[in-house]
Amino acid sequence: MTEVAEGQCAVVIVAAGSGQRLGHGVPKARVPLGDEPMLAHAVRGVVKAGIAAQICIAIPAGDAELERICARLAAESASAGVLNFSVVEGGADRSASVRAALEVLGHGITTVLIHDAARPLAPAGVFDRVTAALRDGAKAVIPALAVVDTIKTVVPASLPSTGAGVEKVSGTPARNQLRAVQTPQGFDVATLRRAHEYALTLDDATAAAITDDAMLVEAIGEDVYVVQGSTHSLKITSPTDLLLAEAMLQGPLRPRWVEG
Ligand code: C5P
Repeated sequence: MTEVAEGQCAVVIVAAGSGQRLGHGVPKARVPLGDEPMLAHAVRGVVKAGIAAQICIAIPAGDAELERICARLAAESASAGVLNFSVVEGGADRSASVRAALEVLGHGITTVLIHDAARPLAPAGVFDRVTAALRDGAKAVIPALAVVDTIKTVVPASLPSTGAGVEKVSGTPARNQLRAVQTPQGFDVATLRRAHEYALTLDDATAAAITDDAMLVEAIGEDVYVVQGSTHSLKITSPTDLLLAEAMLQGPLRPRWVEG
């Protein structure tokens, strides 16, 4: 385990997903964005935020290309002052990848931010807001945006005349109470470890429905606080998201962005 001075913050970047929905045929973290793999942008964003005493990346088992990319990013991060850089083998699902990373955090780490490699353009302002709330006593903090679409819940159904299989609406939650949640999500380390121990007790179906770390912290009864996210923190899932991220990187819209 790495030695880190007491009271420091680590950032875990989970990059062990297959990224099949993007259709590039390689893990998403390796998909090029501008002239660099997506993971490089994610790591540089973390370094630029200036909050990490340790960076830990979870990558797919046996991915030699990502190992090489991480070695290069480790050297780059070290020259920017982040000397503790670890790479771990991810697990079968996102939670397992987070648990693998928690194993290698240094003894002095007291807070940890869990960030998706799939959100490579998250701005420094979001990292600042999350870490500020942790400093102000929150044990769990998530960045989020108000939703603009009306959201419905649905159940399987059949059309009355033909019996064709469709879905029908089962409810409409009040939009003003809904938030679209992003990463980095910040935690007191002991609280997050406790939440992941609880995750190990879940049956497979319940575990498969866990899509972020905050869900686990909610399940153990801790308050999860919300700070403002950013449209720049978009999650790259489809080719359209990639196009938008490319446009953001090239910067023609930049003068019009007002958020941090
Ligand atoms: O698949 P999903 O969109 O939930 O992935 C979110 C993030 O979790 C991605 O950055 C992906 O690389 C990561 N992940 C992981 N290990 C897995 C599955 C996903 O690190 N087994």
